[in-house]
Order: sequence, then C-alpha cells, then structure tokens
Amino acid sequence: MTAGGSAAERAKYAAAKYAADSVQDGTRLGLGTGSTAAWMIRCLGERVRAQGLRITGVPTSTRTAEQARGEGIPLATLDEAGWLDLTIDGADEFDPALDLIKGGGGALLHEKIVAAASERMIVITDAAKEVAALGAFPLPVEVIGFGLPATRALIDEVLAGADVMGRDITLRMDGAAPFRTDEGNLVLDLALGRIGAPRDLALQLNQVPGVVENGLFVDMCDEVVIGHGDGRVEIRDGASGTVTGARIDTDDGDNIFRDHL
Ligand code: A5P
Repeated sequence: MTAGGSAAERAKYAAAKYAADSVQDGTRLGLGTGSTAAWMIRCLGERVRAQGLRITGVPTSTRTAEQARGEGIPLATLDEAGWLDLTIDGADEFDPALDLIKGGGGALLHEKIVAAASERMIVITDAAKEVAALGAFPLPVEVIGFGLPATRALIDEVLAGADVMGRDITLRMDGAAPFRTDEGNLVLDLALGRIGAPRDLALQLNQVPGVVENGLFVDMCDEVVIGHGDGRVEIRDGASGTVTGARIDTDDGDNIFRDHL
C-alpha cells in the first residue's frame, strides 16, 4: 500500500470505482450520499471529463449535488428526469437478502424516493457492513418536528410489539441543535440491536403519523458491490444469487484515489 490511505477507504474506493465504471452512456442515474458514494461521484466525474461519458445525475442530498456539480456531472431534479435507469448508493448495513439500513448520513428520505424511482439499485459498500440480521446500526427514522414527544411515544409502542432486541430512541443532534434533514425534518435513531422482521417494522413505523420515512430499504437493492482493502471486489446479484469477483487497482500511480491522498 505505497499510496497510503486506510484499508477501509481503499475498500470503499474499490467498490465505488467498479460501480462507476459499469455506468453506461445515456444513463439517468441516482447519485447516493455518504463517503462511499462520494468516491463514486469522483470516479464518475473523472469519466465525464476524460471519456466524455454522458449521464444525467439526480442527487439525493444537497452535499451530493454540490460535489457532483464540482465534478462537472450534468444534474437534473427527479421531477425533471422522471424515471431513472439506476441508482448507486452506499448503505450502513446489508443482510443476506440485500435488505439495508440507510440514513446514517441523514439523507434517507431523498435516497429512498430516488431509489424507488429507479429501475435498479446498486449498493456500494465495504465488507464491514455485512450483517446476518439488520439492527446493530441504529435505525434512522425521519420525523417532523410537530408533536415530537407524541411521535416518539408512538414509535416506542411500535417497538414494544416488534421483533427487536432493544428500543432506545435518540434524537440526532448536530452540535447543540437537533440535526435537520434537507427537508428540515428531525431524525430519531433507534438502537434495536437486531431486527427480526425488517419489512413488518418498516411498514409499522411508517404508520405512525409523525413519521416521514424510515431507513429500512426492503426489496429495493438489486446488487451489492463489496470492496476490500486490497482492491478485490465481490458483486452479489440479488435476483440470481450469483457472486462474481473483480479487482480494482487502488495502488496505481495514475488513479484518483492516490491523487486524493
Ligand atoms: C446517507 O444518508 C446514508 O444512507 C449513506 O448512504 C450511508 O450512511 C453510507 O454512508 P458511508 O458510505 O459514508 O458509510
């Protein structure tokens, strides 16, 4: 590893680069949010500038929009783009069914809307995010500010009847103030330990009136690209169950990963 950088960053880069390389000319592409998605946007920007790749990106957050604009990636809103061909995004956890927890970065609402409006969703990740059952990562739930204590109590009631191990609820903070999403909403992080029935929980949480959306992405991801620190990449296809491998050079003297360090 002469180029430096942590194994975790190399793993993220490997997954992101593999996915960015697979994007075809003309794709209407949902651009995810987070540190892994940020690598993917850098790689795409490189392709746009060096290869003239023509894509229309639909960002899932203001920070992704800013980065993509800086990379020279043509952008559109979801309304302008209509239906998308593909979304590439990160995740906080994925399980054997390729169900996900997302929202660690607070962008889960736009991420879910964009993924739902896409023909395919590819998740880029490192191996540390693979779990046998979702729930070790606190589940983010976006809620409106009005009536927060009531919403919180109703969520607690849902959790009391759900197949989960814990039920601590924390209001996400941003320094001294509550964290606000791009929609101006709040986020509650639910420390559940283990979620036995993700689909049921997702449906029940969304029935609470103050809940806008939850970070469980069930049956949305088509493929997971898992990067490793040595540049190996594993691609798991949800529909066929096939697993294939590839390798990305993270130590090439002429790649953007090295340039970034
Ligand atoms: C953003 O709201 C999240 O859903 C991210 O996609 C997720 O937290 C993964 O982020 P990292 O790639 O930074 O781990």
